[in-house]
Amino acid sequence: MISDISKAEQRLCTRLGLNDDDAQHLIAAMRAGASSRAAIVLSPKAPADYVPPFACEDTSSVSWLPPRVYIPKEGERPTAHVDYSSGLYYSLDLSSCWESAPLSVVPAPATSLDMCAAPGGKSMLMAARYLPQEHTANEVNAARRGILKQNMLQCGVPNVTVTGLRPDQWAAEGKLFDLVLADAPCSGQSLLCKGIRNPGCLGAQMVNGNAKRQKGILLATAPCVAPGGHILYSTCTYDPDENEKVMAYILKRVPGWQAVEVPILSPFRSSLVDFPCYRLLPRHGFGAGGFCCLLQKSLILS
Ligand SMILES: C[S@@+](CC[C@H](N)C(=O)[O-])C[C@H]1O[C@@H](n2cnc3c(N)ncnc32)[C@H](O)[C@@H]1O
Repeated sequence: MISDISKAEQRLCTRLGLNDDDAQHLIAAMRAGASSRAAIVLSPKAPADYVPPFACEDTSSVSWLPPRVYIPKEGERPTAHVDYSSGLYYSLDLSSCWESAPLSVVPAPATSLDMCAAPGGKSMLMAARYLPQEHTANEVNAARRGILKQNMLQCGVPNVTVTGLRPDQWAAEGKLFDLVLADAPCSGQSLLCKGIRNPGCLGAQMVNGNAKRQKGILLATAPCVAPGGHILYSTCTYDPDENEKVMAYILKRVPGWQAVEVPILSPFRSSLVDFPCYRLLPRHGFGAGGFCCLLQKSLILS
């Protein structure tokens, strides 16, 4: 039983509507910093019959697991293997894989844009699900863009162009995509559960600043989507202001969009709003946690 709960921890748990047990679990996880779970996603370079050269968990009961994703057994070090440096697989947090599960209901896009792409995890997960026909991996930060380019090259992601435009510049371009990934910059509260220091991430100032930026990114992203196309929004933070409330804002503010049900994620459905969106917490046992929501643009805009 945690007795010295801080105001910021209490505020977060109250806003998430957690019961006492779940609140205690989340606070303990944020303090312990031990909820990371490594995963790997096979790259386009890995042949269909490729098997990772280390022991992996039996994932037959994990219905949401994206294709070509494996969970190495505890103690395995996938990044120490030569197949990793050869680009046969990419290493990332399991929560990040969970955030891409809504793609299970999205048809293979002819054109796709990863608006906030570096270091490249979501583009890699997308390439594992359906080889992109024409994919743009975009990153505004030049240093991170270099890493993104290197990762795309190393893992042999085909038909990909790496760009560095701001979301408002994309909106001005007038190009339409079938699918846009918006894995938005956020306060990163789940980093605490991975043992990474993140001062101020529970505070209103950090949360509000990020929520404003996320709304701006999505307002600029919406016009870049073709009629009938999708935006997959995700974050690695818990605060509803950066998640459910951002989605509610976009659905209200931008005509012709709806949130789409993702049946395999139904156990994770958020109870904070009445439209479908999903949140993962450390107590689920699949990593540090995150949020995702799939939005679809109407075919006909009035
Ligand atoms: C959560 S990270 C993306 C992680 C990446 N999708 C992956 O799976 O590897 C968010 C990214 O958004 C970028 N970013 C920061 N501010 C931005 C803005 N105003 N518009 C678009 N992207 C931004 C950051 O540089 C960062 O690389």
